[in-house]
Parts: sequence; structure tokens; C-alpha cells
Amino acid sequence: MALSEKDVLDALGKVKFPGLARDIVSFGFVRRVQVTGADVAVEIAMTTANPQAGETVERDARAALAALPGVGAISVECKVQAPQAAHAPAPARRSLPGVRYKVAVASGKGGVGKSTVAANLAVALLRGGATVGLLDADIYGPSQQLMMGCTDKPRVNAADKILPVDGNGVQVMSLGFLMDPDQPVIWRGPMVMKALQQFIEDVEWGALDYLVVDLPPGTGDAQLTITQELPLDGAVIVTTPQDVALVDARKGLAMFQKVNVPVLGVIENMSAFVCPHCGERSEIFKHGGGRRTAEQLGVPFLGDVPIDPAIVVGGDAGTPIVVSHPDSAASQAFVALAAAVRRRVEGER
Ligand SMILES: Nc1ncnc2c1ncn2[C@@H]1O[C@H](COP(=O)(O)OP(=O)(O)OP(=O)(O)O)[C@@H](O)[C@H]1O
Ligand SMILES: [Mg+2]
Repeated sequence: MALSEKDVLDALGKVKFPGLARDIVSFGFVRRVQVTGADVAVEIAMTTANPQAGETVERDARAALAALPGVGAISVECKVQAPQAAHAPAPARRSLPGVRYKVAVASGKGGVGKSTVAANLAVALLRGGATVGLLDADIYGPSQQLMMGCTDKPRVNAADKILPVDGNGVQVMSLGFLMDPDQPVIWRGPMVMKALQQFIEDVEWGALDYLVVDLPPGTGDAQLTITQELPLDGAVIVTTPQDVALVDARKGLAMFQKVNVPVLGVIENMSAFVCPHCGERSEIFKHGGGRRTAEQLGVPFLGDVPIDPAIVVGGDAGTPIVVSHPDSAASQAFVALAAAVRRRVEGER
């Protein structure tokens, strides 16, 4: 039987980090797995102050892979970096005075419903009694100004700070306010960093309990800049069931770990279709990927949001489903997500 990437990850999932109960896969240390026929090549990268850890992990990983039935050549490359090097958390440059908690919504890839989750999380937190802001930092396709129904444009105050715009009671700031919708912007690396830093610095949020941040999809430099620039209190990772989610989610986890941002958990979006007429639940895609992903990463599973046409309608009309259909299963999932976020972020202080 041919080996799969999953067989390799399962084997590596038994390798514990020296001295700890957690394994190297859930830590996000396994960066690359390549299976060519029976041959397996693995790349592991770790940040640790323990100089022996690399050798131990490499030896244990080799042993775990050698135990795979039918395995051919094994290559294990293990890189170790000391914590104070490039991957150490950046000093908090701007703490956004007045904003108590900053929570990002992230995804390994686009189109999974990240903005929908961010918008509804913001509204659900608001309904729970918090004052809430929403920062759309998605340089590729900012959409919160539309999803939150912001009809006004942001104004600038006497101190030259940009004032967010009210959308369904949430203070919204989106790169979309500043972009011409007919002119797609081609961002290059340094430009993105500059624009984002400037943007984060120049907004006057006032007093907020929560700032929800809609991150650009993926796990590259732009995402890293934001996570460093805004010292985040936590991140929620959105996946979908049909997504081969584990690899993307692991990248997300590794990115946040690099900058010491706690991953609050994984939420699965578009998990099943609930018939609006008879209430029957159809699993259009396979189900349970989000829960499995969370388990494999060793982070909490924060629930699943069904497919609901009202989400598309609400998104286009600027009324998130938590506002338009508060009793729907999707809204209940978002309210539960908000409660889980509050528990994790406020409870751990
Ligand atoms: N649970 C759901 N049921 C039905 N439609 C949904 C659901 N979640 C999201 N959608 C729809 O899917 C589309 C993509 O969602 P959204 O814009 O939130 O994704 P995204 O991850 O932010 O995408 P992008 O990467 O482009 O920013 C939207 O039209 C949205 O209304
Ligand atoms: Mg989006």
C-alpha cells in the first residue's frame, strides 16, 4: 500500500518534543512532508533554547518513520533556531490605547468565509454587551465596508486621525474605504508593510472592548506584519470541510506561534446545508474536517457554521446574519464563537 502524507504525519504525531507532552506536529514544527513512492522526506524547524532538542527530535522522527510499513528511503532535515533570533516576538510597537482585546480571524486560503466569520463575530460580541471595532486588513479584497453596510465614508478628525464608520453598531475601518473598487491594487511586499503600518497607526478607535481583525488570507509577510504590529490577544482560524485544511491550518498555527499569539481555535464554515423548508441537514461536503484539524493541531474546536443562503444575502445587503436571522443555526454558531472567544481571551488574564 502506498504511503500518504497523512501516514507520515500520523507517525510524526507520536514524536514528542523533548521534555514535553506535546508532539512536534501539533506544535507546527513539521514544515514540509514529501512522499515519493515509498520514499519520505521531512523538514522540521523548531525554535528552542535546548541545543539537544534538534538531535533528539531528528532521531525520534527517523525511528517513527522507519516503523512505517513498506517505507523506503528516509530523509529528515531538522533545523533549530534559538529563541532570541529572527523568530523572537517583535516588541509591541503600538498597543492601540483604548482597545482592550484584539482578536484576528485568519485562514490559510481565500474564500472560506473569513470575512463572514469576522463580521458576525463582531456583531455577536456587540450583542453580548461589548463595544466592538472591526478592522478589515485584507489587502487583497477588503469587503467589510460592504458586509457591515457602511454607507458613510470615514472622516478625519482635527488631529489628522481617521475615524471609523458605524456599521450595525460596530466601528468599522476597512482598506476598502481607501481603495478605488475599479482599480485593483497590485501590492508589492514593502508597500504592503508600509500601508498596513500607516493604516493601523492612523485610525482613532476610541474606547473598545474588542477589535476584530479580518486578516488577508494566507500566512505570508502581510499577515505577519499585522500580527506583530497589533499585539494580538488571540486568533481564530477558519477552515471549510472540503479544504485539505490541515496543511493550511498548520501553517497558520505556526505563524501565530512564531509571534506568540495564542490560537483560540478552529471554526469550520459551510459545514452542511440545513434545508430552510424542512430543516433537514445535508452534508454536501464531507463533515468533521474542522474538528479533526483542531484535534490534530492540539487547539480547541470552536464549532461549525452551516451553509445558509441568508448569509450570502445578508453579506451583500450589509446586514450580517446574526442581525438579520438571530435564531438561525448559523447565528447560534457565531454567538457560541463569541462566547468561546470571550472565555479564552478574558479568562486567561
Ligand atoms: N456559511 C455560509 N453559508 C453560505 N454562504 C457563505 C457562508 N460563509 C460564507 N459564505 C459566502 O461565501 C462567500 C465568501 O465568503 P467571505 O467573503 O466571508 O470569505 P473570505 O474567506 O473572507 O474570502 P476572501 O478570501 O475573498 O476574503 C461570500 O459570498 C459569503 O456570503
Ligand atoms: Mg474576505
